[in-house]
Amino acid sequence: MTTTKGLEGIVATTSSVSSIIDGVLTYRGYNIDDLAEHASFEETVYLLWYGKLPTEKELAEFKGKLSSQYAVPSEVMDMLKQYPLNDIHPMAGVRTAVSSLGLYDEKADDMSEEANLNKSISLLAKLSTIVAAFSRLRDGKEIIEPKENLSYAGNFLYMLNGNEPDEISEKAINKALVLHADHELNASTFTARVCVATLSDLYSGVTAAIGALKGPLHGGANERVMKMLSEIGEVENTESYLKDALERKEKVMGFGHRVYKDGDPRAKHLREMSKQLTGITGETKWYEMSLKLDELMTNQKGLLPNVDFYSASVYHSLGIKHDLFTPIFAMSRVSGWLAHILEQYDNNRLIRPRAEYIGPPKQEFIPIEKR
Ligand code: COA
Repeated sequence: MTTTKGLEGIVATTSSVSSIIDGVLTYRGYNIDDLAEHASFEETVYLLWYGKLPTEKELAEFKGKLSSQYAVPSEVMDMLKQYPLNDIHPMAGVRTAVSSLGLYDEKADDMSEEANLNKSISLLAKLSTIVAAFSRLRDGKEIIEPKENLSYAGNFLYMLNGNEPDEISEKAINKALVLHADHELNASTFTARVCVATLSDLYSGVTAAIGALKGPLHGGANERVMKMLSEIGEVENTESYLKDALERKEKVMGFGHRVYKDGDPRAKHLREMSKQLTGITGETKWYEMSLKLDELMTNQKGLLPNVDFYSASVYHSLGIKHDLFTPIFAMSRVSGWLAHILEQYDNNRLIRPRAEYIGPPKQEFIPIEKR
């Protein structure tokens, strides 16, 4: 047996959901650059789940179904109100709330494709309600009912802030959601596939995936990037901050990638958004600091920014609390997880690799009284 730490370079499945070939990311064959510029998040989700771009009629129907599913069962919302909201990370709250959604869905264990697609629509809608409700409840604010005529991005900002978003903010969130929707066999998607490959239910798969996304080496990185930028404070401190961090052999959040060594194709879109939005807020220092870090890390370490790096200053400029960055990532990536879960069910085989044993050799059992 050969051991490959971190499964680097191991091809663990076939998939037709998304691909990363020669540094180009596609969803179902469509370049992410085109989708980021032209597609709504709802169109993108339709593409991921049904394998084709929707017609206007199909999209309208899909949006109708999605917006009819925002309401979260009162039992789940009552439980959420009991969480120690101000003492936990929102990702822990979201993970637990998604798990409890499964308790109140009588079709949770119905494995038919139709039931799983309906559950997918419901989960995608409800995840945005849960993130917004978590944020408002911990601030002692009333939960806002969804507005069904708004887009997924627009309605999320509405439920979060209590007023309808301006066009620029809605477009920015929409684009960020499109860019984060799927990414081949990343850690959380692999987690989801491993879970459902035991023929466990879809709620279990998504709950497991949220747990994997929460970690700072994966989705948790965007929040840590903003923490780092806040610690740097001013552009002129960037160089010395980075020097110290690298001397301490710290990982600089938002840089590096297991798959991309020549740059993450999503980062340039977020960099442009960061430039635009910090220009609007007048807090251009976040963009300038990010640009400086980008230049220094590229030159000194040969490490390029990943999707999480510029998304930090984008979300910050939209007035979003820093610990909600990763839950927003989850609101988008759930669409990819579900596409992969549906694909896994469709052509399933248990995922069960091996481990190379490096523990003690064969041992003689000694009864407890003689040890
Ligand atoms: N800052 C500093 N050094 C980094 C680094 C970073 N962000 N990312 C990688 N490196 C260095 C490692 O220290 C290692 O150096 P070494 O060979 O001297 O020990 C080398 O580059 C290879 O890194 P490694 O951690 O083995 O790569 P990986 O493929 O296992 O990990 C990541 C990929 C993304 C987990 C890693 O780059 C990272 O931790 N980045 C920061 C977290 C982040 O932004 N995550 C979001 C990913 S989208």
